[in-house]
Amino acid sequence: MSNGTPKRIIIDTDPGVDDSMAILLAFNSPELQIEGLTTVFGNTGVDITTKNALRLVELAGKPVPVAAGAGKPLLRPYTGEGWKVHGRNGLGEVPFPEPKGMPDKRHAAQFIIDLVMANPGEITLIPIGPLTNIALAVSLEPRIAENVKEVVLMGGAAMNPGNASPVAEANIHNDPEAAHIVFHAGWPVTMVGLDVTHKTEIDSAYMEQLKAAHNRFTDFIYAISQHYMNLYRQRGIDGMPVHDSSAVAYVIDPTLFQTKKAYVDVEYQSSFHHGQTVADWRGQRKLEPNVNVCVDVDSPRFLDLYRKRLTEPML
Ligand code: BDR
Ligand code: CA
Repeated sequence: MSNGTPKRIIIDTDPGVDDSMAILLAFNSPELQIEGLTTVFGNTGVDITTKNALRLVELAGKPVPVAAGAGKPLLRPYTGEGWKVHGRNGLGEVPFPEPKGMPDKRHAAQFIIDLVMANPGEITLIPIGPLTNIALAVSLEPRIAENVKEVVLMGGAAMNPGNASPVAEANIHNDPEAAHIVFHAGWPVTMVGLDVTHKTEIDSAYMEQLKAAHNRFTDFIYAISQHYMNLYRQRGIDGMPVHDSSAVAYVIDPTLFQTKKAYVDVEYQSSFHHGQTVADWRGQRKLEPNVNVCVDVDSPRFLDLYRKRLTEPML
């Protein structure tokens, strides 16, 4: 898989248990070079997600900048419920010491603009939280749309029901206006949504395999994921969906996924189904496809990749 120069990525994130798992996958994948983590509200407040991003950078031992971003959606109050899944500290209620590092002085949106404009055609954005920072960045500097390599986001549901509402996936639901801007910014967007993330689950047996490797990454993942796994267990499910790591895995190896291009719009006006990502599969609106939608995933191969990268870490 790793053939040649690594892809340069910015992960825009709200860590978050599955965000943390995704970031640790990225750190341990030779195909990727993390240029920065930008943080956003979502699974918990942005002050906490920023501290968690700094903790992950320190765990990896790599000098990767962290830039803090939006603390609320563009036009709405922050009413996130994600902490119920991720714990109040975003890391499954496991106490961690204060990080030593400080965030970059720039706002996340400015950090994204600076990096993309200084490296035309080089930077892949991987948003795995609400799309507020990405919408701000492309609104402030629309030229990033033609200078970015691609945008591979975790969010949306093109055929499946939602998880934050009957029809909306949480990242899109948390800031539908921002998502609308991002989906229509005229750049290459790949949507890694619930259509694929709900097809791959990490169950307790798999978690035990990670735990058995007993390195600093698997110890961390095991500890922070217990709260999440217990919540699903209470619902009668042994396993947790692999949301955010799916977007990172797509950038590592797109052949893990099947995709279809479609015109996708984001509903933001309705109080009932705001945050829905509506895909025009039959081309009834006669509009050019704007999104490359992941519709299927080779789950066993993906889970093998994740296990290998974390149990035989390169850092
Ligand atoms: C998404 O919402 C968050 O809770 C997760 O971190 C993931 O990014 C899944 O809907
Ligand atoms: Ca996330």
